[in-house]
Amino acid sequence: MADLSSRPIPLHVAIIMDGNGRWATARGLPRVAGHREGAKAVRRAIEAAVSQGVRYLTLFAFSSENWRRPAEEVADLTFLMKHYLRSELRELHEKGVCLKVIGERERFGPTLCAELAAAEEKTAGNTRLTLVMALSYGGRADIVAATRRIIEAGVAPDALNEQVFARHLATDGIPDPDLLIRTSGEERISNFLLWQLAYAEMLFTDVLWPDFDADDFARALDEYTTRERRFGARPV
Ligand code: FPP
Repeated sequence: MADLSSRPIPLHVAIIMDGNGRWATARGLPRVAGHREGAKAVRRAIEAAVSQGVRYLTLFAFSSENWRRPAEEVADLTFLMKHYLRSELRELHEKGVCLKVIGERERFGPTLCAELAAAEEKTAGNTRLTLVMALSYGGRADIVAATRRIIEAGVAPDALNEQVFARHLATDGIPDPDLLIRTSGEERISNFLLWQLAYAEMLFTDVLWPDFDADDFARALDEYTTRERRFGARPV
């Protein structure tokens, strides 16, 4: 392992949490059992991020395409998110976690929506870790919504540049991810943060999300230290 004291820590880690279903199927369990274990892995990832000094953690908890899943699975995931929020909020707040939600949260109904807004408000002043939960989020929808807001705001064509555009995305104020982790062996972005991942380092691991633990998180950060980030420039 790299020397923990000197390695560059990614400011922002984004994770596509994949493999809950396969984890459950491999054990002859219903998919919801995989999502339940996945929720425990969410807790571990947040703890790992806090203890490693990562400042922003974005988790893809529900994509805009996940609505295509059977109603029962969508209901299970909605229930789990509600349950997670209710049971973890106090501890998240005590740990200094600031919660932000991106995506079309209204689609989950007024109860979860109101609870998410209350959680965001309660934790707004926390600075140790910003936890961005992507719920009913799609990268393309984010870009279209940003474009709509830019037009509505009457931004002149000459005044539009990358910085102005980024300020109209759901992630306004959040730095772009430095490291993207996707679990379960799939190697795709799947309509996650399309604009924001432009220069992220990508790390794909075969570990299924319910098995992802603090050691896996540390290994991912180790791997990040070996990457040379050039942002299109030539090596120094
Ligand atoms: C992908 O696994 C995972 C999801 C679609 C949802 C992620 C949800 C959780 C981690 C649990 C609840 C979330 C919170 C925030 C408490 P998959 O079902 O696509 O797995 P598969 O590809 O093996 O079928």
